[in-house]
Amino acid sequence: MEKAETKEEKIEKSRFAAIVLAAGKGKRMNSKVQKQFLLLDGKPLLWYSLAAFEKSNVEDVLLVTGKDEVEYCKTQIGEAYGFCKLRSVIPGGKERYHSVYEGLKMLALMGYGAGDFVLIHDGARPFVDQGIIGRVSEDVVRYGACVAGMPSKDTVKLADEENFARLTPARASVWTIQTPQAFSFNLIYGAYERMMSREEYQNGITDDAMVVEAMTDTRVKLTEGTYRNIKVTTPEDMDVAKAFLRGTVN
Ligand code: CTP
Ligand code: MG
Repeated sequence: MEKAETKEEKIEKSRFAAIVLAAGKGKRMNSKVQKQFLLLDGKPLLWYSLAAFEKSNVEDVLLVTGKDEVEYCKTQIGEAYGFCKLRSVIPGGKERYHSVYEGLKMLALMGYGAGDFVLIHDGARPFVDQGIIGRVSEDVVRYGACVAGMPSKDTVKLADEENFARLTPARASVWTIQTPQAFSFNLIYGAYERMMSREEYQNGITDDAMVVEAMTDTRVKLTEGTYRNIKVTTPEDMDVAKAFLRGTVN
């Protein structure tokens, strides 16, 4: 009888891709340059997540950006910094989920299918690290769908239409969700195709796990991220990011 594969063997045999998203307008940052290209310690914000995937178990990296920034990303980021795993830079779409869908279609063209995995990551999260990528890769092999996140430090309240507190969920069960969000390729591709087929399915989609939750029976595992893995969204997040970098020893 054949010996069952260990987790490490399965991770080694499976193909992993990363879709790095940088097609947003960065409106809440209020800056002239889109936030993904703002300099952080001399390098574009986007460089940090590309560098993390370059060092990781991920084989193929796709970058999704605005159609006017494709050429810039190819030459000034991909080539300039020598990212060997960056297979392609493609234009995204209006909403985040459109950009993700473009990335998934490209991976399908590259032969991604059954047995393969994809990590979907916000290029606006520069502090993704090998620990997070490792934990997410392990959990996606085990569960088929997982997202990085952390237990909420703040109490969370759901508001009614007039901004009065309506409900306070038990804090222990509230997580704030980050990226990478990782999935079996066929699971997420199928879920996205179904979601894209009807406009009414597309209301209020802010992450990829929601698509799997709504379109499939697969449960999405919450995997430990880090509290540092912030999304740079508003100007003060840039100050936090700079402070994190100053404190980094390695
Ligand atoms: N994103 C994308 N395509 C879009 C919208 C967003 O690829 N149509 C990406 C962003 O570039 C970012 C990530 O998705 O890396 C998370 O989105 P968010 O933080 O909302 O970024 P923006 O949409 O750029 O910012 P804002 O909402 O303030 O305009
Ligand atoms: Mg946005």
